[in-house]
Amino acid sequence: MTIRFADPRAQYLAHQASLDDAMRRVVESGRYLSGEEVRSLEEEFAAYLDVDHAVGVASGTDALELALRACDIGAGDEVVTVSQTAVATVAAIARAGATPVLVDVDLEYYTIDPVQLRSALGPKTKAIVPVHLYGQPADMDAVCTVAREMGVKVIEDCAQAHGAKWDERRVGTLGDVGCFSFYPTKNLGALGDAGMVVSDDHAIAERVRTLREYGWNPQRESVLVGGVSRMDELQAAILRVKLPRLDDDNARRIALAAQYEEELAELPLRRPGVRAGARHVFHLYVVQEEQRDAMIKHLAEHDVHAGIHYRQAVHQQSAYRQGIRLASDMSVTERLVDRVVSLPMYPELTDEQMRIIVGAVSSFYNR
Ligand SMILES: Cc1ncc(COP(=O)(O)O)c(C=O)c1O
Repeated sequence: MTIRFADPRAQYLAHQASLDDAMRRVVESGRYLSGEEVRSLEEEFAAYLDVDHAVGVASGTDALELALRACDIGAGDEVVTVSQTAVATVAAIARAGATPVLVDVDLEYYTIDPVQLRSALGPKTKAIVPVHLYGQPADMDAVCTVAREMGVKVIEDCAQAHGAKWDERRVGTLGDVGCFSFYPTKNLGALGDAGMVVSDDHAIAERVRTLREYGWNPQRESVLVGGVSRMDELQAAILRVKLPRLDDDNARRIALAAQYEEELAELPLRRPGVRAGARHVFHLYVVQEEQRDAMIKHLAEHDVHAGIHYRQAVHQQSAYRQGIRLASDMSVTERLVDRVVSLPMYPELTDEQMRIIVGAVSSFYNR
């Protein structure tokens, strides 16, 4: 049986009865949008994070775009983020009308380089979007210090880091706004697309509520020009089943990462570092190997399907060769794109599957 780097079906099967019940409840209710399931999930997710407001939207990309627009960021403004991320981070900035300004990442932790960050900010900068990549919190002390000094907003991209912590606070609550994706493979994943914007700022949350549905005020008058980005009731009901299990799932991911750490320790590959003071929730377990393509091929021959996150940095993709500004050299990012390998990582991985994966990785090095 093939072992994939992520397996959302395994999670469905692990909780099938309660997920089926939740889905049936929605289907039979006749209410499929803007109902009690979304409202309840918003309350439950806000309570989980310990934040005042949570607003459900249609995807993580929309969460970022609407958060930026709710902070009044658009044409003529610059937003600083990384190029070593899902293209969605940068796409959302561009779609909001602002110019993405990209900086390099740290080789060990894969998140924004705090030294390069400072020099990336200029008079047009309105926000920093730190990405908690692979489940590892960015250095939020550095990000928030620079943002405070320069008077810019911090909009956290938490798409890969549900439940991760920085100094005992959950990511999404450290900056001005937090944006989550519930894409099926995420640590908290729906069975389709969904996303969430969280904030302690009432005005920002209200603007996102307005923007997610035609720019409507509570009387359904369009007071802003807005499209539509609703989370649907089915996805909310599914997420309500999974949210109470998130901490246990993350604990299992952390235990699996510890197992990789121990069992791969003698091999000449680079394992991911965990920043002091951070709770890394291992959305992905990403190692670095110079002969990356040979390793992926070798693993596939042993029925282990590793992933690559990402094959190209955002600034290397044709749509983003213009319209962005590179604020630092990208040597770490460009080195990573040729070396990263995402080994299988999801809570339902069994001990037997871990034995097969570790055996396949070791045999690549003839061990
Ligand atoms: C870091 C990051 N940001 C944003 C997104 C966008 O989320 P979605 O796919 O729900 O639009 C993703 C997920 O693909 C992601 O990994």
